[in-house]
Amino acid sequence: MPVWHPVFKTSDIVDGQGISLNVPGRRKPVALFRWAGQFFAVNDECPHANAPLSGGKVSDFIVTCPSHGAKFDIRNGKSDKDFFYGDIKTFPVKIEGDTVYIEV
Ligand code: FES
Repeated sequence: MPVWHPVFKTSDIVDGQGISLNVPGRRKPVALFRWAGQFFAVNDECPHANAPLSGGKVSDFIVTCPSHGAKFDIRNGKSDKDFFYGDIKTFPVKIEGDTVYIEV
């Protein structure tokens, strides 16, 4: 059963930044991104060759994989239409006070 985990302070991440987080209940890290004042969480692993997406550049809700340039929409995990290796998993995010919660 999914559980909400407090993972970060909203003030500790700026727009366009991504961070890698270890969240209880998951063996693999989660990438948390902030864009346009909103927060998004995705699996921190590119489906092509497992590069951490948290190190990718974000622009207009799109993260670019730092290894080979695949692009993913951080709102829904969809890859760009030419990417052969598929989409990425997303996780629900909520804000309470100044704390970011991720549901895994
Ligand atoms: S590892 Fe992401 S595009 Fe190759």
